[in-house]
Amino acid sequence: MSTFSAPRGTYDLLPPDSATYLAVRDALAAPLRRAGYGYAETPGFEHVELFARGVGESTDIVTKEMYTLTTKGGDELALRPEGTASVLRAALQAGLHRSGVPVKLWYSGSYYRYERPQKGRYRHFSQVGAEAVGAEDPALDAELIVLAVDGYRSLGLRGFRLLLNSLGDTVCRPAYRAALQDFLRGLDLDEETRRRVEINPLRVLDDKRASVTERLAAAPLLRDHLCEACKTYHEQVRELLTAAGVAFEDDPRLVRGLDYYTRTTFEFVHDGLGAQSAVGGGGRYDGLSEQLGGPPLPSVGWALGVDRTVLALQAEGVALGLPTATEVFAVPLGEEARRALFEAVTELRRAGVAADFAYGGKGVKAAMKAANRSGARLAVIAGERDLAEGVVQLKDLVSGEQAPVRLGELVAGVRAALA
Ligand code: HAM
Repeated sequence: MSTFSAPRGTYDLLPPDSATYLAVRDALAAPLRRAGYGYAETPGFEHVELFARGVGESTDIVTKEMYTLTTKGGDELALRPEGTASVLRAALQAGLHRSGVPVKLWYSGSYYRYERPQKGRYRHFSQVGAEAVGAEDPALDAELIVLAVDGYRSLGLRGFRLLLNSLGDTVCRPAYRAALQDFLRGLDLDEETRRRVEINPLRVLDDKRASVTERLAAAPLLRDHLCEACKTYHEQVRELLTAAGVAFEDDPRLVRGLDYYTRTTFEFVHDGLGAQSAVGGGGRYDGLSEQLGGPPLPSVGWALGVDRTVLALQAEGVALGLPTATEVFAVPLGEEARRALFEAVTELRRAGVAADFAYGGKGVKAAMKAANRSGARLAVIAGERDLAEGVVQLKDLVSGEQAPVRLGELVAGVRAALA
């Protein structure tokens, strides 16, 4: 037992499982890269104020879940709980929008939320995200949703559903907010929820407690209060999704946990995950740039949870067909062979073949065991007699067949054997 263990709500990614994570991350990003999204990387921490203003002062993320710290220089920083505020901040700071919009960016990394840990909910987790900044176009909302669906499908994931809603805009939301407040004030709610009704009534719709949800059955829905522009916009998004063969469910109660959303909002849920069913989510955030002191830049984006996508794949019993980490394993018999095979392994690697070597001066038996454990298809074995003849033995670890190959023709021989 080691003295230290990872902090609560976190876990380490180690082989062999870590390979699945990398593959999921790559698969979710691949459709974005094919659609003109450029890679963005921002710091793991930002000024607290960015998230307070960006994500919303009264959200759980900001009030309860942020890891904040004061630096020795007196700066108030927070580990990033999400990516949108950071990526928009970076785009604004660099003035990317001045050379043409939409600015399309994708990102991937670690995020931190001090949440109550449970299956699928961690304090350190990983997202792949995308943001399209500076354009108001239903086709952009639809594009992002289609790209997420394509990412999930490319992994073989099937059991996810898309929930879709519109949260209106600055024209229609205020009147709805007031109507919702009127309704909520008439309910018998606990004190904290009453406070929330005054500060952020839409948040109350997101309450998962049965005692609250049953009282909300008759709550007014934004769907019935959308202005004409929002209604038309939403209808266009829905038509584009249908045309792209993407099924969705209208969920008029979907409000999401971040305050910046306007119009299109969506969530991908997977029924095999239990309580933490959201494998991804996003939406439009047309006012965020101005909230951060930038010009008006209507934008839309999403983030998909890598950890939960991996859990969803497990729940469906999908095994990714990952390439083996090692294709060839070299087993030298004696000092001279060690030098010759070390060179051969380097040559194989430089030729693009994944190769490993029996390090640690093991005996043949241990070295062959290591070769089998590596998952390699082939072993390259050589002793003094082989080298004297200018050959190495190429052994197929599956069939057990073995044949000599001239040392100078090893790369070609390996390629032929692997083909
Ligand atoms: P979010 O819904 O807070 O949105 O997070 C997106 C996804 O990250 C969730 O659907 C979930 O899969 C994963 N996730 C969130 N919290 C945790 C956690 N504690 N443990 C494991 N996975 C988690 C955002 O973060 C927005 N920035 C999305 C966005 C981009 N909206 C517009 N652009």
